[in-house]
This record gives sequence, C-alpha cells and structure tokens, in this order.
Amino acid sequence: MTTWNRRNMLKTLGIATVSLPLLANADKMQARPDALLEKKKRDPLKKPITAVIIGAGSRGWLAYGQYAVNNPDEIKIVGVAEPIPYRRERAAKAFNIPKDKQFVTWEHVFDQAKFADAVIIATPDHLHYAPAMEALNSGYDMLLEKAIAQTWDECNDILQLAKKKQAIVAVCHVLRYTSYFRKIKEIIDAGEIGDIVSVQHLEPVERIHMSHSFVRGNWGNSKQSTPMILSKSCHDTDILRWLVGKPCKRVSSFGSLSLFQEKNAPAGSTSRCTDGCKVERDCPYSAIKIYKEHRAWGQHFNFELRSADEETILNELRTGPYGRCVYHCDNDVVDHQICNFEFEDDITVSFSMEAHTHYGRRRTRIFGTKGDISGDQDRLVHHNAITGKTKEYDASQINSGDNAAFYGHGGGDYWLMYDFVRAVAYNDPERLTSTIQASMESHLMGFMAEKSRLKNGKVMEIDI
Ligand SMILES: NC(=O)c1ccc[n+]([C@@H]2O[C@H](COP(=O)([O-])OP(=O)(O)OC[C@H]3O[C@@H](n4cnc5c(N)ncnc54)[C@H](O)[C@@H]3O)[C@@H](O)[C@H]2O)c1
Repeated sequence: MTTWNRRNMLKTLGIATVSLPLLANADKMQARPDALLEKKKRDPLKKPITAVIIGAGSRGWLAYGQYAVNNPDEIKIVGVAEPIPYRRERAAKAFNIPKDKQFVTWEHVFDQAKFADAVIIATPDHLHYAPAMEALNSGYDMLLEKAIAQTWDECNDILQLAKKKQAIVAVCHVLRYTSYFRKIKEIIDAGEIGDIVSVQHLEPVERIHMSHSFVRGNWGNSKQSTPMILSKSCHDTDILRWLVGKPCKRVSSFGSLSLFQEKNAPAGSTSRCTDGCKVERDCPYSAIKIYKEHRAWGQHFNFELRSADEETILNELRTGPYGRCVYHCDNDVVDHQICNFEFEDDITVSFSMEAHTHYGRRRTRIFGTKGDISGDQDRLVHHNAITGKTKEYDASQINSGDNAAFYGHGGGDYWLMYDFVRAVAYNDPERLTSTIQASMESHLMGFMAEKSRLKNGKVMEIDI
C-alpha cells in the first residue's frame, strides 16, 4: 500500500507545494508566478471588490478566503455566515469583520440591505440553491461552488434568475482555470490537432481520497449532496464539454458501489476503527493509520481539528464521521462509473471515474484528424500528424511561489478568483470561462448520465 502522507495527498489534489521531477526537453507552460506578477501590473484594480463568504469551511476559507488574505488590493471580505463558531471567528478576525456582519447562518445575510458587491457561496451542496436564489434576488454577483444545485430544475431556476438580474455568476469549475487545461484548449482552438474525433478521459480518484470524501465524508451520501457524477465528476463533464466545444447529444452510463458496503465488512471489523477492530492493522482504510499515523487529510480538508495532538485526533475518530469503518457508513455513491457521450458531429467521448487507484490526477487523450494530445496533469504531449513532430509540456512548475501554496487544483482556485474579481469589478462576465451559462450543459450531462446509470445504461438524449 502507498504510504499516505500530506505530500501524496497534495499531489492528488494538484496542490502547489509538491515538487515534481522536471521533464527533460519539455517546454514549461506559462510560469505562473511571473505571469501573475506581469498580469497584475497590467491589470490592477482601482479598488477592491467587496464580498461576503457564506460557508467558511475548506473552500470558503482555504481557497477563496486565502485569496482575499493575500490580495487585499483586489477583494475585501466584509461579512461572513458560518455556523461553526471557530470558523466564523477565524474569518471575522482575518478580515476585521464587524459584529453585525458576522452571521451564524446564510439566511441572516439577506435580512440586511445589500452591503457587498458579491457573495461567495461555499456551503454544502444541499445549501446552494436557497442562498443562491436569495443572493440574486438581493442583487449580488456570485461565486457559486459546484455542484450548482442538487437538481436540474434548481440549476435552471438559478440560471433564469441570474439572467433576469444580469448578475455575474461564476461556477467553481476550477479546472478551466489551470494552465494545464488552458494549454490543451489553446492547442485545440489553434487547430493544431484538426477536428476532434474522439476523447478518452479517466478520473482516478485515489482510494484514500475516495474513503475520505465519498465514503466517510460530506459527499458519501447522494441525497445529502449529489451523485458522484455531479459532486466529483462535474469537473470532468465540464472540462470535456469545454474542450470539445460542441453540444453533447446522447449519453449512456454504467457504474455501482462495489466495495464500501456493509456486506463487504471483514470479519472482526467494528463500526469504528477505534472500537478494537481486529483487522485494523491490515486495512488500507484504517482511520488510525490515515489520520493519526500518516496525518493525511487532516487539518484542512473537512476533517478540521483545533489541535493536532494524538489525543485530539483519537477523540475525533471515536466520535466524528472520519473514524467510522468504511464498511459501516451511510454512503451510497458509486466507486466506479463509466459514461459514453456522443457530441455533435459524431465526436465520441468515453469517461471513466475510478476510485480504486493509488494515484490521482486526470488522464486525458484527445484524438484529432491532424494530431493528438495526451496528458496526465503533469505532462502534456502533443503530436502533430503533419510534421510528425512531438512536443512535450511540463505542468509541474505552473503553480509555485507567490503564495500559491494555498491554492489547489493546479492553481485553478487562484486563477478562478483572479478572473472573478475582475469580472465583478468591471461588470464583465467575459472575463470568466465558467459562467453559469457556460456551466449548465455539463451539469445536464451529469444529471442525464446518472439517469442512464439508474436505468441500466439506457441511452438518454440531451436536449438543451
Ligand atoms: N470547486 C471545487 O473543486 C470543490 C472542491 C471541494 C468542494 N467543493 C464544493 O464546495 C462546497 C463546500 O465544500 P467544503 O469542502 O468547503 O465543505 P466544508 O464542510 O469544509 O465547508 C462548508 C461550510 O459551510 C458551513 N455551513 C453549513 N451550513 C451553513 C449555513 N446554514 N450557513 C452558512 N454556512 C453553513 C459549514 O459549517 C462549513 O464550514 C461544496 O458544495 C463542495 O461540493 C468544490
């Protein structure tokens, strides 16, 4: 088994601090720190936009809040809604938020007259729709975490209201903002592989990540969040739709939850790893190994502790969700799923989400009439069928320096915020690639894929 530590975890998530080996003779993609400083010099804001964080957890605080901490000339957080006192106070202190703008829950933000340019909605999935509708009705622009909402009808309500109010709504499809995927898009749009014929795309979730987020954690139960194809793979449907650049017409899907179920619990296992489980030492999913010994996934990613001493961790494992045996949880989301998408002009796309891998980072192969591209988020290879030449790009350097250690998804979190503050400041949605308008269709691909999966793979038409 892979030893799971912070380094592995960061690499899986595409976070900056991991240093990866350089590729010989590879072109570096835009070196982000320099590009960032250059761009900022060219594009400074006259004054920072103001925003309210709704849900100051992993995303609200760690991704977007940190951007505000590091870029006070661009965004000022003037209010926070967060029920967990420690998280609310942490944000209030960092941004010097007055008492009357510190709220226990999102509803209270809208009891007051509009007091900021935008809201950042980073609440759990089932709490996107109501605050999003309220925010739009109150005249706010919005950074909205994915999934947009739990049903297609709710997504549509948000879209219609956003249009009516002419609000800027950025959906946090962060992959679109990474140098890696931008480079792929650039190669395709320049016609360098001709017309796309087909795509193969794999999302290797990594097994401990699966157990953390999609078995024990917030996204394990589809009714409380969304099905896996939305909660995890909406990034994939989104990036596929964006890269192909044409509408998706049909989808079929298969998949199930193979491993993490009661019936697979080994003899001697107990409902918590700390309950004297007889097989704990041999189990790859031992919470004691993951959180206490390897210190992976702790501190930041939803499993947030006030102190990292062993007794605090063990106490949390004895009582909290992350100490539960992976075979005795309330999870129902799939651990493997395949989808076939047919796009306009007969472009075929196969997508596979797989939990049972020891590695993360998406693998993508795009086949075109004049060339092809393959990549694994570290390395990108473009073969030109006309010249016979192959060019390699190195994605490992794109997100170092300039406080980028805070920013996940290969710098995508950073560049999403960079574009969002400018879209709001200049009232210019064109600054964003993932507006709600641009993000809807890939959500529909996900909803229809799930429908197909529940109907034994029946082919579903997509009509938007
Ligand atoms: N874009 C991405 O790549 C990405 C990655 C991870 C998660 N997400 C999405 O971001 C959202 C937040 O996820 P997270 O990992 O930050 O979860 P989290 O649990 O760490 O944060 C959610 C926060 O919302 C707070 N909250 C709960 N009820 C609230 C209420 N009534 N009013 C205000 N705040 C409330 C919680 O206390 C918590 O602090 C989810 O929708 C998730 O799917 C997106």
